[in-house]
Amino acid sequence: MSNEVQGPEQGNELLTFPAWHNLIPPVFFLIIGPVATLLAIGGVWYYFSPEYTDVGYMPEQPIPYSHKLHAGDLKIDCRYCHTGVETTAKANIPPTQTCMNCHSLVKTDSPYIQKVTESYETGKPLEWVRVNKVADYAYFDHSAHVQSGVGCESCHGRIDQMVEVHQTEPLSMGWCLECHTNPEPNLRPKDKVTVMGYDINDPANKGDRELVQQQWAERRPIAKKPSPPIHCSGCHR
Ligand code: HEC
Ligand code: HEC
Ligand code: HEC
Ligand code: HEC
Ligand code: HEC
Repeated sequence: MSNEVQGPEQGNELLTFPAWHNLIPPVFFLIIGPVATLLAIGGVWYYFSPEYTDVGYMPEQPIPYSHKLHAGDLKIDCRYCHTGVETTAKANIPPTQTCMNCHSLVKTDSPYIQKVTESYETGKPLEWVRVNKVADYAYFDHSAHVQSGVGCESCHGRIDQMVEVHQTEPLSMGWCLECHTNPEPNLRPKDKVTVMGYDINDPANKGDRELVQQQWAERRPIAKKPSPPIHCSGCHR
C-alpha cells in the first residue's frame, strides 16, 4: 500500500499529494500562527516598553575618576585606556597600571590617588561598577561597530563632559534595530570614532560625508549576509 492519497485521475502527477500535506493547515493555524502572533506582540511590546531602558543609570564608583578631566580637559584618547575597543568584543576597563603611568608622579598627595597606588602595590584591582550592560542572550561586539565607523558618542554620549559616567541610551533591542535598519547617518570616518562632538552633517565635514557614503555604498554588495543584522540570529546566537 502506498501512503499517498491519490487524485481522482490515476497517474496524474500534479494531483498526487503525500498524506502529510493534509497536516499543513492545522499545523499552521494551531502552532505557527500563534507563535508568529506572539512574536509580533512581543516585538511591539519590546519596542515601546520604557521598562527596558536604564538611561541615566550612574552607579557610585570606588574612586571619583573623571572622564571630563581625563578625556575632556587632558584629551587622553579613549583607546589609551579602553584598549580592546577596536579589535575585540569588549572595550576593557584599564588596569591600575595604566593609571600609574601618570599617577606614580601626578597628584600623589591625593587620597584617591593613594587608593590607586595601594591597588597597584597590593595587586588588588579597583572594583569599578559596571554601567552599560546588554542581556547575555544578545551578542554585542565593539570591534564590528568601531571598525565600521560608529563613534563611541553614538552609543555612550558625551563621555568627555561626564564627571561620572552614566548610561545615555536604552541599549534595548528596539534601539539596536533603529540604527541597524538605517546605519548610514551614524557612520563617520574610522579615524574619527573617538572624537567627541563630531557632526557629520556639519558643512565643514562635507568631504567626510561623501567619503563615508561612498565607502558604505561600495561595501553593501560584497557583504555576505545582510549587515548590520536585523535577522534574529544575527544578535541571538
Ligand atoms: C585614563 C583612562 C581612561 C580614558 C582616557 C577613558 N576612559 Fe572610559 N573609563 C575608564 C575607567 C577607569 C572606567 C571605569 C570607571 C567609570 O565607569 O567611570 C571607564 C568607564 C567608561 C565607560 C563605562 C563602562 C561601563 O561600565 O559601562 C564608558 C562608556 C567609557 N569609559 C567610555 C570612554 C570614552 C568614550 C572615552 C574617550 C572619550 C574614554 N572612556 C576615555 C578610564 C578611561
Ligand atoms: C596621561 C596621564 C594620566 C593618566 C593615564 C591618568 N591620570 Fe588621573 N590625572 C591626571 C592629571 C594630570 C590629573 C590632574 C592633576 C591636578 O589636578 O593637578 C589627574 C587627576 C586625577 C584624579 C583627581 C585627584 C584629586 O584628588 O584631585 C583622580 C582621582 C585620577 N586622576 C584618577 C585616575 C585613574 C583612576 C586613572 C586610571 C584609570 C588615571 N587617573 C589615569 C593624569 C592622568
Ligand atoms: C554601537 C554602540 C556602541 C559603540 C559605537 C560603542 N559602544 Fe561601548 N558599549 C556598548 C554596549 C551595548 C555596551 C555593553 C556591552 C555588554 O554588555 O556586553 C558597551 C560597553 C562599553 C564599556 C564597558 C566595558 C565593556 O566592554 O563591556 C566600555 C569601557 C565602552 N563600552 C567604551 C566604548 C568606547 C571607548 C567606544 C568608542 C571607541 C565605544 N564603547 C563604542 C555600545 C557601544
Ligand atoms: C548607531 C548604530 C548602531 C547601533 C546603535 C547598534 N549597531 Fe550593531 N552594527 C552597526 C553597524 C554599522 C554594523 C556593521 C555593519 C557592517 O559593517 O557591515 C553593526 C554590526 C553589528 C553586528 C554584526 C557584527 C558581527 O560581529 O557579527 C552585530 C551582531 C550587532 N551589530 C549587534 C548590535 C547590538 C546587539 C546592538 C544593541 C545593543 C547594536 N548592534 C547597536 C550599527 C549599530
Ligand atoms: C540588532 C540586534 C538584535 C536583533 C537583530 C534581534 N534582537 Fe532580540 N534582543 C536584542 C537585545 C540587545 C535584547 C536585550 C535587550 C535588553 O538587554 O534589555 C533583545 C531581547 C529580545 C527578547 C526579550 C527577551 C526577554 O527578556 O523578554 C526577545 C524575545 C527577542 N529579543 C527576540 C528577537 C527576535 C524574535 C528577533 C528577530 C525578529 C530578534 N530578537 C532580533 C537584540 C537583537
